[in-house]
Amino acid sequence: MIVAANFKTNHTRETAAIYLDALELFLDTSFIDCDIRVYPPLTALLRADLYSHVKLGAQNFYPVVSGAYTGEIGSHQLGEFGIKNVLIGHSERRVTLKETQDLIAQKYAFAKENGWEIIYCIGEPKDVREQGISAVLEYLWSEFDGIDMDYERLSVAYEPIWAIGTGVSAKIKDIDEISNILKSKLGNTPLLYGGSVNSENLSSIISLSSCDGVLVGNAALDVANFCKLIQIAQNVKK
Ligand code: PGA
Repeated sequence: MIVAANFKTNHTRETAAIYLDALELFLDTSFIDCDIRVYPPLTALLRADLYSHVKLGAQNFYPVVSGAYTGEIGSHQLGEFGIKNVLIGHSERRVTLKETQDLIAQKYAFAKENGWEIIYCIGEPKDVREQGISAVLEYLWSEFDGIDMDYERLSVAYEPIWAIGTGVSAKIKDIDEISNILKSKLGNTPLLYGGSVNSENLSSIISLSSCDGVLVGNAALDVANFCKLIQIAQNVKK
C-alpha cells in the first residue's frame, strides 16, 4: 500500500523538516508496513538519506542533467539530495503550467533512464467526465502516449481533475469502475487514487480491490492528519 503526500506549493524548508521528523518518529514507533512518500516543494527538499521510513520525492524536474534552463532543476540538483522518486504528469502541471504530453513523455523517459521511482498522474476534467465513461477512458489512454507502461518502478495515480482540491471526491462506485479498467491494463503496476482523499473516505477508497494506495494533497499538509491517514490505510485488510 502506497500512501503519498503531495505538498504542492506549501511548507518551507523549516516546516518540512519539522513535519518529516514527526512523521519519522510516528513510523519508528508504529507497526506500519505501507510505502510512505512525501513530495515537498523543491526549495524544501532535504537529503533523502536522512529518513529511513519515508521516501522523499520531487514534485517536478526538467529532463536534463544540468544546463541553461532558467528556473528549472535537473538530475544534478536532485542528485545532491539523493532524490530518486518523482511525480510526473500531475494535472496542475498539465493544466495550469501547460505541460504538453510530449514534455511529460520526455520527463518520463529521463526518469526511467535514471532508474527513478515514478508516480505518473492521469485524470480527466469535468467536461470529459460529463460525456460518459468512453470519453473518460479515451482521455485517460491519451495521457499514456509516449509512456512505457512496463517500467518496473512505475505507479499510476488516477486523479480526476474535478476532484482535486475541491473537497469533492469521486463516488466510490465511479472510482471502482475506472480503477478496474485501468488495472486490467496496468497489470502488476500499483494504481493509486487521488482527489480530495481524507480521513472520512480513505478506508472505502483503499478497500477497493484495484486500489493500491493514495496520493493526498490538502489532507496531508498537517503531519498529525497524515499520520492518521497512514494508520487508517494500515488498518484496512486487503
Ligand atoms: P487533494 O490533492 O488531496 O488536495 O485533492 C491531491 C493531488 O493533487 O494529488
